[in-house]
Amino acid sequence: MLPAIRVHSRDAVEHTHLVVDGDVHLWVKAAEYFTNRKWGVDLLDHFILARVIHILGVVLWIGGMAMVTTVLLPSVRRFKSTEEQLAFFERIEHRFAWQARFTTLATGLSGFYLLAVMNGWHLYADLRFWWIHAMTFIWVVFTLMLFVLEPLVLHRWFRAQAIQAPEKTFRRIQRMHWVLLVLSLLTVAGAVAGSHGWRL
Ligand code: HEM
Repeated sequence: MLPAIRVHSRDAVEHTHLVVDGDVHLWVKAAEYFTNRKWGVDLLDHFILARVIHILGVVLWIGGMAMVTTVLLPSVRRFKSTEEQLAFFERIEHRFAWQARFTTLATGLSGFYLLAVMNGWHLYADLRFWWIHAMTFIWVVFTLMLFVLEPLVLHRWFRAQAIQAPEKTFRRIQRMHWVLLVLSLLTVAGAVAGSHGWRL
């Protein structure tokens, strides 16, 4: 099994962190590793580009969710009429859902590409790399919600509940957004710290 390789910058190419069996750190010439592979050094450019796409996706997606959770939902809950609450919330969420679908897709594709280039699949078998599990878990939850549950079930369920008991429904929705936001932020913190060498 090839070890997982992590590249932090082009300057670090000569001395790149190689993780062997999750814990033993070796300093190797990553240039050799990349030039020995099919796409040579191009692979490094692709890797860096994928990382840029990954982080842009995360910023837009999780940042948008933070805005919905901390600003939009509390404001909507103060609206006087239920119709107004529903119409406003649905219009904004509808637009954001399309953005979130796109950014979730970009984050997931670039994430799996990074993992493939690193040959880091075996990191899933090591709990010290919990942040890899956390990233994948958050991505699966959002992918299911945005692509399956929201269009098929949640949208109708939310409308019916909000008409019956608006205050309770918006409270629930806000609580759910808070849980997902906190988990996502913990994941971001763990991924940044973990991918730069921090271990449990
Ligand atoms: C299918 C889902 C995902 C996969 C396969 C994936 C994979 C990866 C990989 C392989 C890395 C590079 C690790 C390294 O250099 O050692 C990475 C970095 C990162 N990922 Fe993900 N990821 C996914 C989803 C997410 C999500 C949902 C978030 C945010 C909630 C996220 C946030 C980050 C962050 C912040 C970094 C660190 C970048 C850095 O500091 O250089 N990822 N991801």
